Amino acid sequence: MEQQKTISRRTFLAGAAAATVFATVGGKEILGKIIPKLNSAAATGRLAGTFSVSLDQFAALQQVDGSVRLSIAGLNHKVLVTRVAETEFTAVSEVCTHSGCAIGNYEVANKRFQCPCHGSRFAADGSVLRGPAPRALDSYPVEFDSAANMVHLEIAGISAAPDQPDAAAYLAPIAVSNGMANVRYGLAAPARVTLTIWTVAGEQVMIPVEQAQEAGEHTAVIAIGQLPAGQYLCRIQTSDGFSATEKFVVVR
Ligand code: FES
Repeated sequence: MEQQKTISRRTFLAGAAAATVFATVGGKEILGKIIPKLNSAAATGRLAGTFSVSLDQFAALQQVDGSVRLSIAGLNHKVLVTRVAETEFTAVSEVCTHSGCAIGNYEVANKRFQCPCHGSRFAADGSVLRGPAPRALDSYPVEFDSAANMVHLEIAGISAAPDQPDAAAYLAPIAVSNGMANVRYGLAAPARVTLTIWTVAGEQVMIPVEQAQEAGEHTAVIAIGQLPAGQYLCRIQTSDGFSATEKFVVVR
């Protein structure tokens, strides 16, 4: 099993340009970061990276034997993250190596996953306990940052848009004054737009825009006077796949 270790968050993030992404567990959205590994990207032509997320957002992972099935934007299969000891986590692909079925949830009593199709069994780290699966599940290194209470999953082949606007659609830096946030954004084509406001801890607090809009520049003026002081994230998503996030601060 991959040996886990505690790392310095500052060291881990040094020199990296992050992309904000959203993951889903059981239908609930979770805010995370992808830290691109630029060397990997140069070698493979794909953005490889580390997905980092606060454990505060995973009730199931607060305890040993907790396990979640994580859907990460930019990855075409889900990842099962399991807390196997106080400071030790595993992360494996849900794709069974026999014929590609999605394995079942972690069975705490038996400490294993089982594939519903032909009965293969796997340990939390993906190793085969019983065939017909011919090899272990794909697994990902996991690092636990105890100081920040975060887990970092290193996932080859993950991709995410960086935190910057593309040439057509964009989300501009957000101006805040007099209890209002001015959110300016552009659309490359007509699309359904959803603007959401999140705390940096990953709690969604507002959905100020949710409607079809024309191509071109738009401005949403959002009343934020009722929000407690602190840092927030504004996220735009469009039906044609554009997504971007900008941070803003509410001061009292
Ligand atoms: S696909 Fe999983 S055991 Fe056959």
